[in-house]
Amino acid sequence: MSKVPPYPRIRKAVFPVAGLGTRFLPATKTVPKEMLPIVDRPLIQYAVDEAIDAGCDTLIFVTNRYKHAVADYFDKAYELEQKLERAGKHEKLELVRHVLPSGVRAVFVTQPEAKGLGHAVLCAKPVVGNEPFAVLLPDDLIWNRGPGALRQMADAAASSGASMIAVQDVPQEQTGSYGIVATEDFADRQGRITAMVEKPAPADAPSTLAVVGRYVLNPRIFDLLETTAPGTGGEIQLTDAISTLLREEAVNAYRFKGTRFDCGTHLGLIEATIRYALDHEKLSEAAARMMQDALYELGVREIQ
Ligand code: G1P
Repeated sequence: MSKVPPYPRIRKAVFPVAGLGTRFLPATKTVPKEMLPIVDRPLIQYAVDEAIDAGCDTLIFVTNRYKHAVADYFDKAYELEQKLERAGKHEKLELVRHVLPSGVRAVFVTQPEAKGLGHAVLCAKPVVGNEPFAVLLPDDLIWNRGPGALRQMADAAASSGASMIAVQDVPQEQTGSYGIVATEDFADRQGRITAMVEKPAPADAPSTLAVVGRYVLNPRIFDLLETTAPGTGGEIQLTDAISTLLREEAVNAYRFKGTRFDCGTHLGLIEATIRYALDHEKLSEAAARMMQDALYELGVREIQ
């Protein structure tokens, strides 16, 4: 196995956003799931902020030909900005302008067919080129008061020279919803991955350490994705290409600091909304009171 040279800092982040979001129908009939709000910002904004916090300045959105809302959101809104400026609504104007800070650019790539996460990442190859990069799945929202999960991983990758995959422990009965890794030598939040399986049944899972949607990857992954055959669900799986990569070089699992909400499910979206409302500087108190009142009115006094 060849020694991997130290990673340069990652600058490019890939956001696969071509999914149909059928779980949230009818809301997602017209609004992409990445645009569903958590309190005052759409889901995609949280992932974008996390990538920028990690040092990324090129954001690559892999989308489909029907989804324009994400591109519109990151585009400049001339008329709206003019109106807000004329009305003297400076605070609101700043919010609209800082969806993307200056110096950060958004690039849109189309995924012509829904052939899986691995295929979506491969579609970003011409923009990423030959440098390490990040992948963020916006469904996985990670809340942390300190540095974001991706920054923690980028720092770890820069010092260890290994690709990094975010992981967290899940209950055994849930292994079928995740990529699951086997690791060795876990120390200081990192352990080298020895095997990786996409959505194994609990009886076949090598552990209960599940992949969360944050990856820092060596560009070698693109070559491997090009020859990866469809796997679980008939899709080209990122997990399968990573399984090949880890036979060639170090790929580490990284237990990030923070709380992850699975906003690809109804309950996860609700949980994230509650958490962000309770942590919001202006809404926190009122939100807590509202939740207490709701529990009282509905007679849910004690939860077993
Ligand atoms: C994807 C990955 C899976 C990972 C999960 C994290 O699955 O394929 O390995 O554990 O994201 O959210 P999906 O949830 O898109 O089916």
